[in-house]
Amino acid sequence: MTTHPMGAGTAPADSDREMIRIENVTKHFSLRHDHSLKELVFSALQKKKLADTFLALDDVDLTIRAGETVGLIGFNGSGKSTLLKTISGVLFPDQGRVLLRGRVAGLIEVGAGFHPDLSGRENVYLNGAILGMSREQIDAKFDDIVAFSEIEEFIDTDVKYYSSGMFLRLAFAVAVHTEPDIFLVDEILSVGDEPFQRKCLARIRELQEAGRTMVVVSHELDMLSELCSRIVVLRKGVVVFDGDPVEAVRVLRDS
Ligand SMILES: Nc1ncnc2c1ncn2[C@@H]1O[C@H](COP(=O)(O)OP(=O)(O)OP(=O)(O)O)[C@@H](O)[C@H]1O
Ligand SMILES: [Mg+2]
Repeated sequence: MTTHPMGAGTAPADSDREMIRIENVTKHFSLRHDHSLKELVFSALQKKKLADTFLALDDVDLTIRAGETVGLIGFNGSGKSTLLKTISGVLFPDQGRVLLRGRVAGLIEVGAGFHPDLSGRENVYLNGAILGMSREQIDAKFDDIVAFSEIEEFIDTDVKYYSSGMFLRLAFAVAVHTEPDIFLVDEILSVGDEPFQRKCLARIRELQEAGRTMVVVSHELDMLSELCSRIVVLRKGVVVFDGDPVEAVRVLRDS
């Protein structure tokens, strides 16, 4: 295991306390496995090795403290989602390690933790359980979750018939009601319509005020620089900037 808890702590912590520590994290992906015989013969003749791995995260070091809202920006394919997935434990780094304090939840991929053939209602229970809630806890919050999502009318419809926005609404509603210590959000807010985006942002601000720790990925740079206390810029899997949000956006736009 490369993801280690740093100890329990559900209470909003004093700042200074490290919530996420990413140490020298490197992640490769294989590009393809189906080289043709012709390609293999040519590469052997030319004594060239076929490039078959891709470096998605290159020696990333990052420490995030209690109560921080850290933005993660970078062009498509720069490694943002890969980094969030290593924090959430969906992916394991090839090298390095990720240390966490407390419970992590969030929205990393719309649809993750949802089953298409189950209704919205059943998926709230499934997803809540995946995020670490007991049946009683979900029972207690079910009405609030549905009210937040504003899709009461469709709660007993199979989610495979949901629009992307409806899906997002339910997923976000479940995630924010799990009261995680660390909340991760990847882009997906942009799927929601404007009123729902505003509602999500308001909820994110509430979590901020409650001292939760957040990592938010978005291409909406202005929104992000307003929301975050700090922004990290990734370029081809490398952290090229970490600090002032306005400066971070400038670094990305200038590159
Ligand atoms: N499971 C996977 N298998 C193979 N390659 C992958 C996998 N996941 C990601 N990659 C590759 O890793 C690189 C980084 O992907 P990642 O999804 O982290 O980018 P991103 O910064 O989130 O981009 P975007 O802004 O488009 O969401 C990409 O080149 C992608 O093709
Ligand atoms: Mg991504």
